[in-house]
Amino acid sequence: MSKFIINGGNPIHGEIDVQGAKNAVLPILAATILADGESVIHNCPKLRDVDKTDLVLEELGCTVRREGGTVYINPNGLCGCRICEELMRQMRSSIIFLGAIVSRCGEAVVSMPGGCPIGLRPIDLHLKALRELGVEISEKHGYIHCTSNGIRGANIHLDFPSVGATENIMLAAVISDGVTTVSNAAREPEIVDLQNFLNSMGAEIAGAGGNIIRIKGVDKLHGSEYAIMPDRIVAATYLAAAAITGGEILLNKAEPRDMGAILQVLREMGPDVKIGGDKIYLKSKGLLRSVHTVRTMPYPGFPTDIQSPFMALASLARGTSVFVENIFENRFQHVDELVRMGADIKVEGRSAVVRGVEGLQGANVVSRELRGGAALVVAALAAEGQTVISGIEYIDRGYENIENYLGSCGADIKRA
Ligand code: UD1
Repeated sequence: MSKFIINGGNPIHGEIDVQGAKNAVLPILAATILADGESVIHNCPKLRDVDKTDLVLEELGCTVRREGGTVYINPNGLCGCRICEELMRQMRSSIIFLGAIVSRCGEAVVSMPGGCPIGLRPIDLHLKALRELGVEISEKHGYIHCTSNGIRGANIHLDFPSVGATENIMLAAVISDGVTTVSNAAREPEIVDLQNFLNSMGAEIAGAGGNIIRIKGVDKLHGSEYAIMPDRIVAATYLAAAAITGGEILLNKAEPRDMGAILQVLREMGPDVKIGGDKIYLKSKGLLRSVHTVRTMPYPGFPTDIQSPFMALASLARGTSVFVENIFENRFQHVDELVRMGADIKVEGRSAVVRGVEGLQGANVVSRELRGGAALVVAALAAEGQTVISGIEYIDRGYENIENYLGSCGADIKRA
């Protein structure tokens, strides 16, 4: 198993082009199976989760070819409607294929996605919504079996604005009879990206980005060429890396308009942050300040995915910061590891109280999930001495060549 070895203390100085968004590319790749013909997806990040999604597409009978950042998907040989248990276990977000497969094939079989280190992550909202669209679902022996004689439009209200459930409804209902409305829909920018891609294939969807999405069913979709939006969580992680090391960074190919809550917290903590077009510039102004309370919320609130890297920042800020995790019940697994590095953090239920310390020290730490692992990288960049991070396969799920990007900005980071 690989590890990252990081010698802390070098300020991050440089420029980074932000990669395509993991959370946008996964549903968009699932959408390609709905087309009559090839789709060409640009700006696809090279990530473990994208490789696994390509394997799911191949298992279903699609031809998948990658050339650099472009992936070509031809679904014309589609012959399967089943995702094997191994892939479902490796990548829980394969559940996003359910709506697309049952719409395309009239049947879908997937194994129940297992629990996940960040919480239980049930799929009840996905299944309830699919039933409302006329899909018959049985759950037996750890498998979910869906059948449909054609998707019927419906009015669906989500009890919680789940990102995955909103996307699954869009993918199931895009080719259907009638109109589907989703109220209390998730408003994340990645849902707007999925809407834009589906519309470029001939769909008639409106409203993504707001809390009501209207899907007028169409008979068929054609293949399309599309570029994935920038990854706002990866962008925020690199900004955190520059802020914690007292550095200076320019992000290109970013989308600052999607990052309002994140940039507001960063500014509150002290660094100078400027935006313009697709660029974000951050320059440290010395010591970080604590932030009063950060509450994770559905978009446009502060994203749960950047809670842990920002907690690393707060651990070196002057004063006390509070983080309240409202989305996933078990997303504080990085805390013990940050404490091992000298941070002063106390967790009480869904809240973490972070008292800023003078310095962090390098240590042997373990990444137990994707964003928690990124938090350890951020902390290690500012720690005194050497940090060895194991469990980095989680970090590879969402960050493309993180060691190369940070290394090009002056970090001393190696994969061993
Ligand atoms: C997506 C993102 C993930 C991000 C999360 C919240 C992808 C691939 N992943 O995950 O990075 O952290 O949004 O922004 O896009 N829930 C239910 N029942 C359901 C579905 C969800 O109770 O059927 C609950 C979950 O347990 C969680 C909350 O709703 O507490 C939010 O989950 P959801 O928005 O669905 O997250 P994901 O789509 O899994």
